[in-house]
Amino acid sequence: MRRLLLIGVGAGDPDHVTVQAVGALNAFDVLFVVVKDTGTQELVELRRQIVERHRTAGAYRTVELDDPPRPWRQATDYPEAVERWRAARVAQWERALGEHLDDDATGAFLVWGDPSLYESTLAVVQEIAARGEVAFAYEVIPGVSSVHALTARHRIALNRVGRAVQITPARLLSEGMPADVDDVVVMLDAHATFATIPPAGIDIYWGAYLGTPDELLRSGPLAGTAAEIVRVRDEARARKGWLFDTYLLRRR
Ligand SMILES: C[S@@+](CC[C@H](N)C(=O)[O-])C[C@H]1O[C@@H](n2cnc3c(N)ncnc32)[C@H](O)[C@@H]1O
Repeated sequence: MRRLLLIGVGAGDPDHVTVQAVGALNAFDVLFVVVKDTGTQELVELRRQIVERHRTAGAYRTVELDDPPRPWRQATDYPEAVERWRAARVAQWERALGEHLDDDATGAFLVWGDPSLYESTLAVVQEIAARGEVAFAYEVIPGVSSVHALTARHRIALNRVGRAVQITPARLLSEGMPADVDDVVVMLDAHATFATIPPAGIDIYWGAYLGTPDELLRSGPLAGTAAEIVRVRDEARARKGWLFDTYLLRRR
């Protein structure tokens, strides 16, 4: 039966690739690469370097999947537009698995960070499996997430003793820190949301391009640090054309 590996490869540092992931990187015949319309060519290149560094097995085939254009937030019916986009992705990947993966072959997707954290790859693969048009087994290989790269680089614990931690997309932070959680990790922030919330009594631990040569780190009281982080991230985005950042907001 066809086999599909979803390999968590860490969030940028090739040293964060686990021994299990190295095994998986040497086990596939076909690598599926999702090509997006935004400035993520550098991420495609980083993934290529990870394979080059860790694969000693022979040649493999690469199949590129041109990601359907993402629906604009301004779409008249945004949820419906997202649903159409998801369906197009499922159909495209399903076709590719059927066409490019022989019955006894192993395919792989390299998934940024950990496949279980704010990643659609697993959901798309599960949907294809549930449809039953193409028969395959799939495995998930965990990876070091950007959250753990962040806490390691700042040399801090993610949680405080006996306390809860919340991981959230930035859009849910627009009203400020949740009342009942004192440690919040924020991801997927296109708008420096940390600079828009009431800063009193909050520390920030911020990291961008974690694990890569462009890594940026800042930390301190939010009130005194937010403006500097906004400046640094604006400069970095202008220079590189894209930005990935993650941060922990910690109530003192
Ligand atoms: C689609 S999510 C993927 C998360 C990934 N699965 C993980 O485990 O980290 C993309 C978000 O992850 C975070 N991220 C991923 N890689 C990062 C990195 N190297 N440095 C900082 N943040 C990163 C950013 O918040 C970015 O907006």
